Amino acid sequence: MKNVLILGATSDMAQAIAKKYAAEGWSLTLAALEKELLEPIAGDLQVRNEIAVQTLEFDATDFSNHRKLYESLSTKPDVVIAAFGYMSDQDEVRNDLEDIKRTIDINFTGMASVLSVVAEDFEQRGSGAIAAISSVAGDRGRQSNYIYGSAKAGLSAFLSGLRNRLAPKGIHVMTVKPGFARTKMTENLELPAALTASPEQIADAVFQGLEKKRSVVYTLWMWRFIMLIIKHIPEPIFKKMKM
Ligand SMILES: NC(=O)c1ccc[n+]([C@@H]2O[C@H](COP(=O)([O-])OP(=O)(O)OC[C@H]3O[C@@H](n4cnc5c(N)ncnc54)[C@H](OP(=O)(O)O)[C@@H]3O)[C@@H](O)[C@H]2O)c1
Repeated sequence: MKNVLILGATSDMAQAIAKKYAAEGWSLTLAALEKELLEPIAGDLQVRNEIAVQTLEFDATDFSNHRKLYESLSTKPDVVIAAFGYMSDQDEVRNDLEDIKRTIDINFTGMASVLSVVAEDFEQRGSGAIAAISSVAGDRGRQSNYIYGSAKAGLSAFLSGLRNRLAPKGIHVMTVKPGFARTKMTENLELPAALTASPEQIADAVFQGLEKKRSVVYTLWMWRFIMLIIKHIPEPIFKKMKM
């Protein structure tokens, strides 16, 4: 039975991804900040799908512990999906250095730290696949969300380089850019329905994308074209757009 390790497994997207992999018959290792929140999720998946589910505590910002944690896994994963993230309201905290650091630590440094440990193991074993949830917010810095956006831009660049380094070794790395998604992270935002994906749509896109070895997945597909246009808006015009 193949195993998937999901980091940030209490996230709404991660829970849908876990359900999808469980339904496909994979065993699961679920890792999240608060292990006790994982227990009911794990129990439900175990009973419904008759699969093995392990849980463990994982803090993306506890960088020095990432190697020890990964080495402690009794089952080494075939696939790792990193779904943790943090976004605050930039208007409220843009001068709060603690919050800026937290945003970068979770969305960029934490991802780079734990995925480097995973990549080293996959490289030694000569197989494996990684998917991480980045964001279209990293495709171009916007005045309303450039702190989160810059951390995600760093993550997208990290994943691109890792993908190209590991491709000749048979290891696949996929970047996921969900566009808007209906989750806890966005529950206070008004999102346009036509451009907003459900966690289940994202889970399908992640599963299918990894099966087909896609490099960068935009969910929903129209986000690829939206971002293409946004990236090409000349800077003098972009400055005047309240985005
Ligand atoms: N929702 C969107 O529109 C959207 C769009 C693009 C990209 N994304 C990205 O999608 C991913 C999943 O987010 P979501 O939308 O599913 O929102 P979510 O439900 O709020 O998930 C965020 C998850 O990150 C976890 N987390 C926060 N700090 C952590 C830390 N230090 N260590 C480990 N885990 C930590 C949270 O755990 P706790 O709940 O225990 O704090 C939570 O499970 C994130 O990377 C997010 O940036 C979301």
